[in-house]
Amino acid sequence: MYAPQASVVVSALCILAILNITTVILGYYRHIETSLNIPTYIDKNYPLELVGWDIEPVEMAFHETVRFDLNASDSAADREWRLLYVPPYTVHLGPGQRLFALAFYHQFHCLRAMQFAITHPEDHTYTLEHIQHCLNYLRQHLLCAADDELEAGDFLRWDLTPGHLESLRVCRDWEKVYHIVDTSLMDFKESTHSPIRT
Ligand SMILES: *[C@@H]1O[C@H](CO)[C@@H](O)[C@H](O)[C@H]1NC(C)=O
Repeated sequence: MYAPQASVVVSALCILAILNITTVILGYYRHIETSLNIPTYIDKNYPLELVGWDIEPVEMAFHETVRFDLNASDSAADREWRLLYVPPYTVHLGPGQRLFALAFYHQFHCLRAMQFAITHPEDHTYTLEHIQHCLNYLRQHLLCAADDELEAGDFLRWDLTPGHLESLRVCRDWEKVYHIVDTSLMDFKESTHSPIRT
């Protein structure tokens, strides 16, 4: 009758032990992951905002401008509006490199869509439904931010002369946000050439 050698039995026991230990470690890791709330970026398990970056405050002068004109035959102005958001503006996050876009870019997309619809009324790239979505999207984002900055005087009587300074404000460093998205995209391109779209 076949009797397994002692070494075979020991090897089998070792493999079983390793499997057991691995299961325990994996289980413990999952437990820690859940209890520390580490996002998996699967389904709804992802943070509300981009995390892991310090976005410093910067100063911005709000003023009337000659740029960003609403003039269909002014290609420079059209370019300024178009460059508000330039694809690819997406980020890929988590182990599955899940596709996300920042609200920042969606908001700019909406401004561009509205500018284009106003300056090119004969062009139907952006449908009325699209513009309606954009107006409501921006309305809800403004509502959400509930900006309580005090503005002196009645804004309906403001001087709209280009260059006229309206206020100085402390803002989030938008250049840094562009940089974060660019860096993230470069990392993504280096890691894989096949985007995983979920
Ligand atoms: C629109 O832009 C064109 C081209 O730059 C310019 O010739 C024209 O005067 C502008 N129209 C208005 C109303 O400013």
